[in-house]
Amino acid sequence: MAKVRLDKFITLCGNYTRSQAKKIIHSGKVSINDWLIKDEAVKIDEDCDIIKIDGIPAKGEKYTYIMLNKPAGVISATEDKEHKTVLDLIGDEVKKDGLFPVGRLDIDTEGLLLLTNDGNFAHNTLSPKKHVEKTYLIHAKNYVYSEESRQRFLDGIEIEGGYKCKSAKLEFIAQTDEYQILKLTISEGKFHQVKLMIKAEGGIVIYLKRLSFGEIKLDESLAAGEYRRLNDDEMNLIKKYIGE
Ligand code: URA
Repeated sequence: MAKVRLDKFITLCGNYTRSQAKKIIHSGKVSINDWLIKDEAVKIDEDCDIIKIDGIPAKGEKYTYIMLNKPAGVISATEDKEHKTVLDLIGDEVKKDGLFPVGRLDIDTEGLLLLTNDGNFAHNTLSPKKHVEKTYLIHAKNYVYSEESRQRFLDGIEIEGGYKCKSAKLEFIAQTDEYQILKLTISEGKFHQVKLMIKAEGGIVIYLKRLSFGEIKLDESLAAGEYRRLNDDEMNLIKKYIGE
């Protein structure tokens, strides 16, 4: 049985902040099993109570999907003794029990990280069999882009430990005095994979940012450390991965 506070439930049902949800409850618009309830602290059972707002059943959202623009300096874990985690960045208004990051970005990597409490989604998108593409923006030192190198990424770069990576798409973006700016799309997620691929070609990654995960693109209006729930269009993309 999934028991949750009424204000938390209302917050998760719509795009309400916790204080908006409290206001809605205090104004007598919310009923539980047809009883008007004005106490936001009441616990409801998501599986069997019927909650209505203005007489319309509120759709309890079992799963939450959040897009975070991960800043450098936090780790992709749910808890850690030493470092701040990505979960520490998420406010109570969207936090659900069991929320976890879908996959891992290194502590110094920025960009798109999805968080959810939907284990099925994580399983389906992280499984190597699914070939979910991830695109990264890279600043690489000591690396010189060439057609031959691009082809080696396409053919499969061999990284430390002798692993031959799957085909990856490399794109040259720009050159500064100190480094080259590149985009790389890979369809697997080995530990430090992008850094190791660039290293195998003689370069050093000095900045790394994930721009997309499958068809979900980082909302560039989110500053590093900001997050939001996925919008309806993104949720439709998510459904492909959860078989709905
Ligand atoms: N590849 C890396 O090397 N680091 C990341 O954080 C993600 C992909």
